[in-house]
Amino acid sequence: MSVGFRAVQWNRDKVVYDAILLAGVIAFIGTFLFVSFSLHPAKDSPDEIDRFIRAFGVCAFAMLTIVLSIGPLARLSPRFLPLLYNRRHFGVFTFIVAALHVGFMIEWYGVQGNLPNLLVELMTWADYARFIGFPFKALGIAALLILFVMAATSHDFWLGFLTPPVWKAIHMALYVAYGLVVLHVALGIMQYDRSPLIPAMLFVGFGIVTALHIAAGVRERWRDGGRVISPGWIAVGPPQSIPDKGARIVTAPDGERIAVFRDGNRIGALTNLCAHQNGPLGEGRIIDGCITCPWHGYQYRLEDGCAPAPFTEKLTTYRVRIHRGFVEVDPVPLPPGTPAAISFASP
Ligand code: HEM
Ligand code: FES
Repeated sequence: MSVGFRAVQWNRDKVVYDAILLAGVIAFIGTFLFVSFSLHPAKDSPDEIDRFIRAFGVCAFAMLTIVLSIGPLARLSPRFLPLLYNRRHFGVFTFIVAALHVGFMIEWYGVQGNLPNLLVELMTWADYARFIGFPFKALGIAALLILFVMAATSHDFWLGFLTPPVWKAIHMALYVAYGLVVLHVALGIMQYDRSPLIPAMLFVGFGIVTALHIAAGVRERWRDGGRVISPGWIAVGPPQSIPDKGARIVTAPDGERIAVFRDGNRIGALTNLCAHQNGPLGEGRIIDGCITCPWHGYQYRLEDGCAPAPFTEKLTTYRVRIHRGFVEVDPVPLPPGTPAAISFASP
């Protein structure tokens, strides 16, 4: 949370996360190069550099696939929440690996004294109307630019400056980048290297991302389970169906998701969107008396959705009541910070 603006701080978990990430990237690229050079020793220097282009390209593609899978995975099982915790660093690492892929490609042209040809390729406008022979590198450049903008604006300063909804909208462009990379490979190397491994990589990557998003969407609809029983109120379930110090999430008729938390015999409802980066608050827990966002640990009081002093964030709250033994929520939002929690008598 912030008083004006406070960046999420460095801590041991983040250092461990980054160390594992770096070790994973080195292991992946090292294995790729080892297998590639063992199976087909390089003929000359450009061929050698080409292996590096490929190793870094495939690694960046795998990282993009993982980064897009982390969100739905964390929705399907809280076991994946630690992956989500520092996803921004994952994104920045992905940009660095993709940039090195391009760096080796420039070197490939450079060692052959061929750099001007790269510009000619990119500026042969007639080729942009062709399917086979399309300047696939331009698609890679567009994807890399998106990754760059995201890496450059990933710091919390930009989040505060742009506001969470705008920041989140920008980060949705990652899906566009993924689509561009799939086309970059399908219209590029797949057209002149007939190895079945290349379409297999695209098929598996794209398939994983799509399947996980569909599974998480279906699961969320099923889990929300909120149904309107009396006009204006949404039934959540008996109080004990809400896990103690946890929440159940219901969906208002306008699609807004509401997190209904229980702390012993106190129940309160808040928007499911964290004020920091719109993280899924309802997947968090009540720790030290405060609702704690699972993404970066921003905290809010159950009573009124306010961050504890000295912080200033306030979340929208909702009226709750117990009706015929069921917790119900009024989906009309109250002004942020309005006290709305209630107590219920334990059976
Ligand atoms: C987000 C950015 C990018 C990603 C994730 C990416 C990913 C990939 C992948 C997965 C391959 C196929 C490698 C293989 O299967 O062997 C590839 C090939 C290639 N990429 Fe990229 N790429 C990106 C940006 C770029 C850019 C900006 C350029 C050039 C301006 C570029 C130039 C190439 C070239 C020349 C190849 C073919 C390499 C060969 O013939 O061996 N890429 N890229
Ligand atoms: S703490 Fe970052 S999204 Fe909630």
